Amino acid sequence: MKILFTRSIQSPLLKLIPEDYEVVMWPEENRVMPKEALLKEVADADAIFTNVTDQLDSEFFEHAKKLKIVSTMAVGFDNIDIKEATKRGIPVGHTPDVLSEAVAELALMLMLACARRVGESMQFIKDNKWESWGPFLFAGQKISGAKLGIIGMGRIGKILAKQAKALNMEVIYTNRRPNPKIEDELNVEYRNLEALLNESDYVVMLAPASAETYHMMGYGQFSQMKPTSIFVNVSRGSTVDEEGLYKILSENKIFAAGLDVFEVEPIRHNHPLLTLDNVIAVPHIGSATKETRDKMVEIAVINILKGLQGECLLHTVNEEVYK
Ligand code: DGY
Repeated sequence: MKILFTRSIQSPLLKLIPEDYEVVMWPEENRVMPKEALLKEVADADAIFTNVTDQLDSEFFEHAKKLKIVSTMAVGFDNIDIKEATKRGIPVGHTPDVLSEAVAELALMLMLACARRVGESMQFIKDNKWESWGPFLFAGQKISGAKLGIIGMGRIGKILAKQAKALNMEVIYTNRRPNPKIEDELNVEYRNLEALLNESDYVVMLAPASAETYHMMGYGQFSQMKPTSIFVNVSRGSTVDEEGLYKILSENKIFAAGLDVFEVEPIRHNHPLLTLDNVIAVPHIGSATKETRDKMVEIAVINILKGLQGECLLHTVNEEVYK
């Protein structure tokens, strides 16, 4: 059996792989495996350990003649043609739950960092501009008592709502439809998108990437937010029209934005959004705590081993392949 890893993964968890399996690993940890190498190596692979940066499209599946398992070290799977995998009877495994706390914590960090102008303040010190304490020097926004609006109330949203409640925030959410169970459990209220944008002091995007959520936040939607409000995206860049976001931020019609994800990743250093003082940007590190990433590797490896042994994966995106 051949398992293809599209990144270098150095983890003791790889010991779980039986010795008679062949492991082929792209040697780079922080660079994408080029498409040509990917297509060549997957041709005789039985399983692939992949991640959010590999494009597993129909061309990929055309080449993957022996492939039995796709296992992504991620909760999101918008980079994988799930229909194509399902058509070929290939289960796609992913790693939900274990990363929810880490991603919620990053959302909270971005909310706080934007609210208290951490990026600008640090740059101010580095630029040697600090001369004295000032009565309103870098005066920002409060979190306690403010209203958080969550777009996409799923596993991560539930944890973020609990964290926000602990900080004395009021929480509202929007989803395709209201979820009374979550409302009872968390004491949160449903709003349609427009009402949520109107009311919230903080708006956090958690909706997954899909045709339905593509550019769901553009200039028109940002215009419905309060001038003092903060927008945070820890989901996928495609949910936001960055031109609209740039325009609203540069017109100071919202207070700030905290971004972990971008329409094109990696975002280039000279991207217009990065010229703005009221943007805090980090490089898609939502789930990046050591503990979380170890768990993601473990689940992704177990998904492969289970799949190769003909068992159901721990977490399968396309359950219909088992029918
Ligand atoms: C995911 O899991 O989908 C994240 O975006 C990568 O950590």
